Amino acid sequence: MPSSEIALPGPLPSPGSGAPLLTSELRLAAGGSLRGSVKVPGDKSISHRALLFGAIAEGETRIDGLLPAEDPLSTAACLRAMGVEVSAIAVDQPVLVRGVGLDGFQEPADILDCGNSGTTMRLMLGLLAGRSGRHFVLTGDASLRRRPMRRVAGPLAEMGATIAGRRGGELAPLAIQGRALHGATIRTPVASAQVKSALLLAALTADGPTTVIEPALSRDHSERMLRAFGADLSVHGPGGTEVTVRPGPGLRGQAVTVPGDISSAAFWLVAAAITPGADLTVQNVGLNPSRTGILEVLERMGARLEVLDRRDVAGEPVGDLRVCHGPLQAFTIGGDLIPRLVDEIPVLAVAACCAEGVSRISGAEELRVKETDRLAVMARQLSAMGAQLEEHADGLTIMGGVPLHGATVNSETDHRVAMSLAVASLVARGDTFLQDPEAAAVSYPGFWVDLARLRA
Ligand code: S3P
Repeated sequence: MPSSEIALPGPLPSPGSGAPLLTSELRLAAGGSLRGSVKVPGDKSISHRALLFGAIAEGETRIDGLLPAEDPLSTAACLRAMGVEVSAIAVDQPVLVRGVGLDGFQEPADILDCGNSGTTMRLMLGLLAGRSGRHFVLTGDASLRRRPMRRVAGPLAEMGATIAGRRGGELAPLAIQGRALHGATIRTPVASAQVKSALLLAALTADGPTTVIEPALSRDHSERMLRAFGADLSVHGPGGTEVTVRPGPGLRGQAVTVPGDISSAAFWLVAAAITPGADLTVQNVGLNPSRTGILEVLERMGARLEVLDRRDVAGEPVGDLRVCHGPLQAFTIGGDLIPRLVDEIPVLAVAACCAEGVSRISGAEELRVKETDRLAVMARQLSAMGAQLEEHADGLTIMGGVPLHGATVNSETDHRVAMSLAVASLVARGDTFLQDPEAAAVSYPGFWVDLARLRA
């Protein structure tokens, strides 16, 4: 397919900007192949953490490879509003953060807008709850204002935090009255790195040790990076599901190198696995074991996947991933694997449509409270393309080998849905018209340009 058939949208309002979204539509032609190599942008989770931890450290933090997308921009804007100097965020530019220390945030004169970013809002709740005598209000776009926040505000209240919000503290806007916190032992209700990280950040200035116990291991970027910044943090318990922070040491600014985001790489891995003739290498992908569930599932499906040049970059494992097209078998996933691939389930649903047999996803009820209800949205949008799938309370059952056809589909403002549907369009019969494609800018602003280039 000539790349010109991907009509790139012009400047568009971003989902997090609060501006009314104009519905734009992208025509995605089927067919063609994917060849060559691609470098995905920096890991979103690590980018947020590098900005936030740099802000509360003493001295300067230099971040190379920070994701220049809507979500980290929201984090940077909130930090600037509290007096933190963060240099301009642009493609291939190092970002410098001048830390203000553990308790140095100024009280912002206005509300803090977290845009579309759950990570920004949840980690900031933990960071701000202990800032005595200061008042903060966090809000976000329509999607974020629908997402559950009591899972963070509740455990923080056990440490003494005062956080109020709509629906009894469940929904943003959330008002935080900063006060001194005490250490506690907290069992989190869900395996969520956002909840865990919020508590670990609050623990840094509590009056005693705090232990967070998760039901299953969620991504551990905060633990790795907090340690590198000098926090007194230990990981214990079955599978590393218990983390203790002892308050005391201040954090010291660091040089952080952000690896490519495996959640962004996932679109290319599935795209190459399902598209006849494809041979694609995704470079510099973060391979933290708490994130590599997608690779395990693709391997189980029989995908032709190779990890090349495994290395360590600034405390995180990294490698290049080569994927070629080949026949795929259905998969069954659930349990403790889900947190290790939670953001990849929309694109795995697309892979399942192209596999032989019936794929089953269970234990994935968390998808209902992501940027959209991703189980419902993927079921709705893939059905419009002819997929045969059933939606359950906690997952999907997907019939493989049923040909997809082009249709008018909608990202419903969700970045991962937009890119997953683009992957589905590659194997559909006829053109797909994707509405609201600009949602991709939340985590991967260059996605449409990369897609055009890889298909050229
Ligand atoms: C994230 C954790 C995950 C993930 C999100 C980013 C993080 O959310 O879905 O995209 O950076 O900590 P949960 O921790 O709520 O599962």
